[in-house]
Amino acid sequence: MAVPMILDCDPGHDDAKAILLAAADPAIDLLAITTVAGNSTLEKVTLNARRICAVAGLRDIPIASGADRPLQREPRIADDVHGESGMDGPAFGEPDVPLAGEGVVALMRRLVDESPEPVTLVPTGPLTNIARLLIEHPEVRTGIREIVWMGGSTGRGNTTPYAEFNALVDPEAADQVVRSGVPFTMCGLNVTHQAAVTEDVVNRLRGIDSVLAEVCVELMTFFAGRYKSLFGFDAPPLHDPVAVARVVDPTLVRCVDANLVVETTGEWTSGATCVDLHGITGRPANAKVAVELDVERFWDRFIEAVRALG
Ligand code: BDR
Ligand code: CA
Repeated sequence: MAVPMILDCDPGHDDAKAILLAAADPAIDLLAITTVAGNSTLEKVTLNARRICAVAGLRDIPIASGADRPLQREPRIADDVHGESGMDGPAFGEPDVPLAGEGVVALMRRLVDESPEPVTLVPTGPLTNIARLLIEHPEVRTGIREIVWMGGSTGRGNTTPYAEFNALVDPEAADQVVRSGVPFTMCGLNVTHQAAVTEDVVNRLRGIDSVLAEVCVELMTFFAGRYKSLFGFDAPPLHDPVAVARVVDPTLVRCVDANLVVETTGEWTSGATCVDLHGITGRPANAKVAVELDVERFWDRFIEAVRALG
């Protein structure tokens, strides 16, 4: 049976690809797409979610807009990586995909309540919406199978030396979610950097004769340019679909059990995800931490999703 899932995202080039994989792969029953301020303002990332859904012909999945700022901190965007629109590259028309009238927290709560099976939450942005859900409706925890997050890192960061962007934007939210008691999986930079969009991947997308595939190529071309100039990468990492892939087929993303805490007070290290990979603190494991991607099967599955959407 397909896994009921909600994707909470901030599109974002790689979030857009996460939407495609989640919507098209038969292993997932995508109940909703929810947005959170992150890569760009809430208004822009929500428009971008509607844009990619319109291009992909996804009209039956509710899209709802959530938190416009972190729990406590000032918003921080990543226009250096994603451009002024939050998803620069292709020329998008006005999307003919509506926005749900319900707020994100109410929608998530209702969907979890109504689902006969526990629901998996996949956040691919700051954890603000998820933290608000768990704070406002703690009873919802029993209806959540697990939270599989793209964020953090077992090593260094990408926005400060020790913090990954999604963790840095709202460390208090990440801390709350990690400590909520809901099973938690972290797919951090150490694993998402294995999902490199090589020339071969781009050529496979080019081989699909569809407007959606062309938009994917244009998104990747912009993203590759930014990753080259900002970080010196020859092939940019497609972070967010890795978290979706873990739900699609857990064998695609190997995880280990470890203790995870989120730094919220460090002067230089706020947003750092401290993962005790070798058990040196004696603190019990409280998370699954992704360490290895089956790169070939991951791309096969992603390309198939784009092909299936036509
Ligand atoms: C994460 O930050 C965002 O820019 C990407 O969409 C991804 O979720 C990578 O650090
Ligand atoms: Ca993201």
